[in-house]
Formats: sequence, structure tokens, C-alpha cells
Amino acid sequence: MPALTTTSDGFLLHGEPFRIISGAIHYFRVHPDQWADRLRKARLMGLNTVETYLPWNLHEPEPGTLVLDGLLDLPRFLRLARAEGLRVLLRPGPYICAEWDDGGLPAWLISDPDIRLRTSDPRFTDAFDRYLDQLLPPLLPYLAANGGPVIAVQVENEYGAYGDDTAYLKHVEQALRSRGVDELLFTCDQANAGHLTAGSLPGTLSTATFGSRVDEHLAALRAHQPEGPLMCAEFWIGWFDHWGGPHHRRSAETAAADLDRLLSAGASVNIYMFHGGTNFGFTNGANHHHTYVPTITSYDYDAPLTESGDPGPKYHAFREVIARHAPVPDEPVPAPGPKLPPTTVDLDHRAPLLPYLRTLDGGTRTQDPVTMNELGVHTGHVLYRTTVPTAGDGLLHFGGGVGDRAQVFVDGASVGVLERERRDETLPVRVPHSGAVLEVLVENQGGVNYGPRIGAPKGLLGPVTFQGAALDGWECRPVPLGDLGAVPFGPSGAATDSVPAFHRGTFEVDVPADTFLSLPGWTKGQAWVNGFHLGRYWNRGPQRTLYVPGPVLRPGANELVLLELHATTGTRAQLTDTPDLGPEGQ
Ligand code: GLA
Repeated sequence: MPALTTTSDGFLLHGEPFRIISGAIHYFRVHPDQWADRLRKARLMGLNTVETYLPWNLHEPEPGTLVLDGLLDLPRFLRLARAEGLRVLLRPGPYICAEWDDGGLPAWLISDPDIRLRTSDPRFTDAFDRYLDQLLPPLLPYLAANGGPVIAVQVENEYGAYGDDTAYLKHVEQALRSRGVDELLFTCDQANAGHLTAGSLPGTLSTATFGSRVDEHLAALRAHQPEGPLMCAEFWIGWFDHWGGPHHRRSAETAAADLDRLLSAGASVNIYMFHGGTNFGFTNGANHHHTYVPTITSYDYDAPLTESGDPGPKYHAFREVIARHAPVPDEPVPAPGPKLPPTTVDLDHRAPLLPYLRTLDGGTRTQDPVTMNELGVHTGHVLYRTTVPTAGDGLLHFGGGVGDRAQVFVDGASVGVLERERRDETLPVRVPHSGAVLEVLVENQGGVNYGPRIGAPKGLLGPVTFQGAALDGWECRPVPLGDLGAVPFGPSGAATDSVPAFHRGTFEVDVPADTFLSLPGWTKGQAWVNGFHLGRYWNRGPQRTLYVPGPVLRPGANELVLLELHATTGTRAQLTDTPDLGPEGQ
């Protein structure tokens, strides 16, 4: 018997009326040493529940290898939630969307071009079953039936926006049930009849996702499901940003008014997001509606708790609204956390990227260019190299475009950039002599996480020609970023730089605290602090600072490393005490 059950218009928890007032926190977007703080702040805002997805792609990075530690130590997160008295909603996918690389589907699985994702295709369902075989045993003790905090589990995610293979939804449900998940199961879909019908599973609670027009959307859910609790499983109170787009803000007043409408209607809610966190490393997703647009590093989401865990305007406004409908702890609202004093970091060591890569052994030799997927490279950058037999002016043509952004070099000199975002396929170049070296540095900017293009290949996607003749004899090599200690840094000479290069500097910290990395004069690349991969930076914006969680710092000397892909006008970085997520959209 599940702990959470439904009546004709609400929930019972252990037989007592219960309204879910939940907020989303993705543990994998927050430094684990900050989980307890964020969960405490969730309770203090008046939430009785938190919700999280599970990213299959990180939990099973290679077939059969389950990772459940560090940033992925979900059992620890669940223990901390329980200690705070919070219930938990789990959304294990397989697909999670979430502005997450490939919507959380593992790259090793979706690199099979024939696989039919999110369907009853046994290649897909078998892989998910094997994952659950490993994932669920350590999680079962955390189900409410076993004394744990988990009161409900979601089947798939907004499936009605993607497909209508009900047998597949049934498979996911049975896969959970047969492995001991006895708690309430639910589906979630955008609040319209078409999506709700395609994405629901008879016998399983339907919930809706929306951020406004509360009465209309609740009515759509009620029309679809005449009886049972009304639940908004994702109440969108902010939004995410794309590189080159505006920074999305939503006023606390309108979001709070809509939350009040939801709660006044007797509905349950999961605020998406309560605390968004960060797309650390290479974890961000992308959208592809009319064109490919990657999601930025920050997942602040304009949420009640900011990216750095400080209560923002919505925290106060939502707490007031919740207090009208449910008990809110009679404890003070948490103050903003301490920040590091502003600090300048002198990046006084550098190592040019391309010469370093030329010194490395290995690499894969192929006749024609192959995709990153075929190389088994799931994230980051690959350098492709060949020689051009003919000298002269001409067009380089990349068949099928590039996935997702290619920097082109002839004899080590930068000659241009192609972007999937612009659907670039050609670049005019001058080849100075026969046998000139052509190098193409390709960045996977993040896998599409919504719609039919999930799993679209990365890297060079087809034949490359110069003056119409195919170039062959390629060497392909991933840029190794796992061990930055191997990078051959030397003292920086000039103050400016115009080739891809690693840059390193150290800075002193007295008392570790959160800080924000600002890179005026730098262009685009990756940043690490003490080996912790903060993620991508790009002067295209909107975000102008990267969040540096206090727990990655230590008293004494700390190290900042950048991989700058283009150019810098200086050798300094700033650590500031204020985030800058960029100008707001209209
Ligand atoms: C949908 C998805 C979420 C997320 C939001 C937008 O509701 O279910 O995972 O992508 O959109 O932030």
C-alpha cells in the first residue's frame, strides 16, 4: 500500500489529508556540501516536499557502470531531505528534459542511429531496465513504505509532447513496480487535452505542467481526469536562458499571485524551480525549434532561491502566499550567504592548445571524418586534423554542417568558425601550399533535450571538401580535460593572446565562500577552480559571471584554469561578490 493515496479531490498521506507543496531542486546541479543548506531553506519557505529528476546519463556514464557518489549521491540527498522533514518526489525518466544534455539519455545509448528513443523499442527499454536493476536497490530504503521520504515517483516526462506509445509508458510503470517501487506513480504533461491524452497511462495519476493561466490549465486537467487530486507537477515560476538570448525574469508578484490561485483552488504544486543551480561542466542541454540554441551554464531560473542559494524576491513572496494556505515554520528567513571579497586573479601561465595536442599519442585515424558519437566521445571537444593537397583560394565545405561549433585552422592560423546555430556549412579559405595542415576543433555545445532531435550527432557530420574535392586521411582526437595537471603550462609572455590556450593563475583565500567569476576581455571557453569544472563561459552572454560554489575553495592558495578558445585582451580574471546574469529580455 503506497504511503500517498488519492481521493476524489486530493491526497492522503498515511491516511491523513495531505497537500503537496513542493519545489524542484536537482541535486546534480548543486554542490553536495550545499544540499543541506538548500533543503533547510526549502522547509523554511514553507515547502513540505522537494522534487528532483535523476540524470540517467550521469548515473550510468558507461553501460553497466552505476555512479552514486559525490554530486550523484542521491541516497545522501534523500537522507538530508528526510532529516529536514521533507518528502520527496522522484522523477527517474528515462527521459527528463530539464535543459540537460540530451534530456538525460545516455550518449552511449542514443549514438545507435537506429534506436527509437522513448518507445517500446527493446533496445531502449532493455537498457533502461538494466539501469533500474542497479539503480533501484540502493534507493528502495528511501521509499515511504520503508520509512523513507519518497512519496511518489514519476513515469517518463511530458511524454504527450513526444509520442503516444502507451505500451512504452506501461513498460516504464511495470519496470518500476516489478523492482519494488510501490509508491504512488504519476505522469506529467503540458496542460492541454492532446498532450494529456497521449502522455497519460490509465490507472496512473495525471498531473499537469504550466506557469500561468492557472484556472484554464486546472480546468484542462480536470476535464481530462474527472476525479483525483489536481496537481501542477511543474509550476514554472521563471525560465532558463540560451547563449545570445535575453536573461529571463518573471516578477515575484505575478508568480506569487498565480501560486495563490493554485493553492486557493485546492491544488498541489511543485514549484519549478525552487532552486535551479548550475549546469556545471558539459551538462547543459539545448533546444532546436527553428534552429539549434544551447542553454547557458547558469540554471538560476529566476527561482526563489538564487543560483548561489540566497533567498530572492520570490522566496519572500511565496513564503507569504504559502502561509495563507499551510503552516510555515516560525523561524527567520535565512539571510544571504557570505561572499568572498572581490579578488583579482592573474593568469600568469599559459599553454597553447594546438601545439599541446600535437604532442599527444593516440588519436583515431579514419579515411573520412567520423562523428564524436562514432568516436565514443560524449562531451567536450574533438580536434580533427588532415592535410589539404591543393593550394589556392577556395571553399571548405562541411557536408551536413557541424555539431555544434567548429574553429578552423590552416597551418595553425585561425581562419574562421562554423556554427550549427547559423546552419553554417562553408568557409572561404586560402590554402598557402600543398600539404597545408587543416585542423578543425569542434565543440559539442550540449545535446538537444526537447523534441525529435534528442541525440543528434556531434562533431564533423559528413564529408569535408576543398574546391569540391573530398579531404581524407583524418586524425581525430578528443581534447583531454580530465587531468589538467598534464597541461604543459609555461609563464605567459604577452598580455594578449589570440590562439586557443589554457591559462592558469592562483589566488589566495582566507575563508572560503561563494564567489562569481567574471572574465572581462576573454571570449569563450571553459573554467575550472581547483579542478572543479564550473562550465562554459562566452562573451555572447547573457550571463557574464560564473557561479563558484564556496565548497570548491580552500583556505590558502587556489587555482583557476581557463581553456580560452579564441582570444583575450588581458591576463586577468575577477572574482566578484555579485552575480551578473545579463540584461533582461523585453
Ligand atoms: C518542461 C520539462 C522540464 C523543463 C521545463 C522547462 O516542463 O518537463 O524538464 O524542461 O519544461 O524548464
